Amino acid sequence: MLEADGYVVVERLEGQPEAIEIMQDIGRFVPQYTGAVEHEVVHRPGNEGRAYSQSRNTIRCHTEAPGRLPSPRHLALYCHRQARCGGGHTDLLDLKALRKLLGPAEHALLTDRSIAFPGPAGPITLPMLYEEDDGRPVLRFSYNLLTAADYDAPLDAAPAPEHLPLGREGAELARRVAELFDQYRVQVLVPDGALLIWDNQRMLHARSEYEDEGRHLTRYWIDA
Ligand SMILES: [Fe+2]
Repeated sequence: MLEADGYVVVERLEGQPEAIEIMQDIGRFVPQYTGAVEHEVVHRPGNEGRAYSQSRNTIRCHTEAPGRLPSPRHLALYCHRQARCGGGHTDLLDLKALRKLLGPAEHALLTDRSIAFPGPAGPITLPMLYEEDDGRPVLRFSYNLLTAADYDAPLDAAPAPEHLPLGREGAELARRVAELFDQYRVQVLVPDGALLIWDNQRMLHARSEYEDEGRHLTRYWIDA
């Protein structure tokens, strides 16, 4: 299912240890921004003004850690307790679908223009979309980076176009992709005790806002 659809929800698990075994069958855990291989996706006070995992705000469409080389191949969320308020979905859209929806000029911005993605070893400069030697496409995308020059942008960020990675064109592309994303996304509300895994080089993801402070997931990055 992961190969066919680009994502899978694994239910009826015997807790987080079984989820970890499944992820280790897929690949190797990668240290995240703090150096730890587990990142707790919970509300932490102080993040109210940012589109960030530890806020309760909407996070617009992106791929994870585009400034890493390679970017994490798979992402996973183990759900301890899902939001009960009607929000907190993980939304996904397949590059295969997005490519059919974009116009040629929009698609060319993804493939023909390199941009600098801030990363742990300094910025890496790459097109947002390219193909590996075996023909497999690799997508890097961040709505926040293209519109606000920051992965975890303040909600009121409005930098001048000359401070954006692809200027006004890039911001317009981001808005177009976000509009298509919102129209064609799959909305997943990971059930308690379940594991969502997706291909982070193929699928865009986003998070819808939520109120319920009891929501708790653990995020993993997996290479290969
Ligand atoms: Fe993310």
